[in-house]
Amino acid sequence: MTSCRICASTVDEFYDFGRQPLSDAFPPVGSEGQEFFFRLAVGICRSCLMVQLMEEVLREHMFNEDYPYFSSGSTVMRAHFEALAKRLVAKEVETDSPFVVELGSNDGVMLRTVADAGVPHLGIEPSSSVGEVARAQGIDVLTAFFEEETGKQVAAERGLADVVFSANTVCHIPYMDSIFAGLDALLKPQGIFMFEDPYWGDIVERASFDQIYDEHYYLFSATSVRNMARQFGFDLVDVERLPVHGGEVRYTVARQGARPVSDAVEALIAEETQRGLHEEATLTGFADRVTGIKNNLVTLLERLRSEGKKVVGYGATAKSATVANLCGLSTEVVEFVVDTTPAKQNRLTPGTHLPVRPPEAFSDPGYPDYALLFAWNHAEEITAKETNFRESGGRWILYLPDVHVV
Ligand code: SAH
Ligand code: TMP
Ligand code: ZN
Repeated sequence: MTSCRICASTVDEFYDFGRQPLSDAFPPVGSEGQEFFFRLAVGICRSCLMVQLMEEVLREHMFNEDYPYFSSGSTVMRAHFEALAKRLVAKEVETDSPFVVELGSNDGVMLRTVADAGVPHLGIEPSSSVGEVARAQGIDVLTAFFEEETGKQVAAERGLADVVFSANTVCHIPYMDSIFAGLDALLKPQGIFMFEDPYWGDIVERASFDQIYDEHYYLFSATSVRNMARQFGFDLVDVERLPVHGGEVRYTVARQGARPVSDAVEALIAEETQRGLHEEATLTGFADRVTGIKNNLVTLLERLRSEGKKVVGYGATAKSATVANLCGLSTEVVEFVVDTTPAKQNRLTPGTHLPVRPPEAFSDPGYPDYALLFAWNHAEEITAKETNFRESGGRWILYLPDVHVV
């Protein structure tokens, strides 16, 4: 039996993805035999309605000096975080002892703009591979996992924060009791904790099951985040839906009673209730769709193989580990995967061991017949720069919300 990491009630499993590797551990050729695997399965807490993984992976296995995800690799995401940083600096920072903290600051994609504005800041980032890139740009970075002790230490050394911001990181952290204790130590009385993560409502709508992998321990909704905040003495005071990464929500929480609750919070929770987002029928419906997509994708790739078509993957995303391992992909059906990240290139995809090649391999010696778009969340950016592929007769394979070719 799995106990909820938020409220200790029982978690009911609703989908088992089976044996999966670490989504961001790309083994060098020759070391495939030493990979770490775990059982990836997802469930829901019947009490606080938090969607969460059934098994937890040790954080040091995932986030360390080899972590290969560099946030600044996407132009769209750079612009997204620049705009957010400008807004935080303009609206949320007091003139008296201003201080902005970011959890999971990665390569500095957000804090760069805060630093440029001359605002005191600190990124808390356990993966030194990415943290060093930020530090080299003059951004203050503490190489550590955020938790209660870190919050107390930073408050003692640097003072209290106006804002603690975090993107695509809070959902990675099972130990939320410790996180909120750290926030309580670190935030000014009226301070806010703002975080954005993949939204369970969008995952259900698009059947984007590949958002479920080792690092995404929680799949948040407004309902479950409100329950979580209350559990730890905070309020959910605002929500904003975001188009990035396939649909996210930006949540703002503050100490109970410190800030008024916006109408958007009640509206999104009401919408979630009306959609039955946490109900049994929705969860079984989601599970059925995942199985359907898996079967259809395997069938399509087998057919293309039998027709002698060349298929390559585009974007060795963390998400693609779930798809590739669930479907049991091999180089027989997907010859290799292209990706712009040097730390992933010339290595193998986790668990399935497809070679990862630099983007030049997409067109040289010639375009493939089909490209399986694993980085579907960057579709606009990618299709805009790969117009030659489409014009030369190449087709994109998409698997969400169902398998289709465009
Ligand atoms: N904020 C960036 C990076 C997201 S990747 C973006 O949105 O693109 C998630 C990051 O969280 C990784 O860099 C990882 O090292 C970091 N991380 C994981 N656990 C953490 C913790 N407990 N405290 C702070 N950062 C953490
Ligand atoms: P993400 O979906 O977690 O942001 O990961 C995107 C991956 O796709 C990352 O490994 C970088 C890669 N990528 C490309 O190869 N080409 C691109 O144009 C973009 C935007 C990303
Ligand atoms: Zn719970």
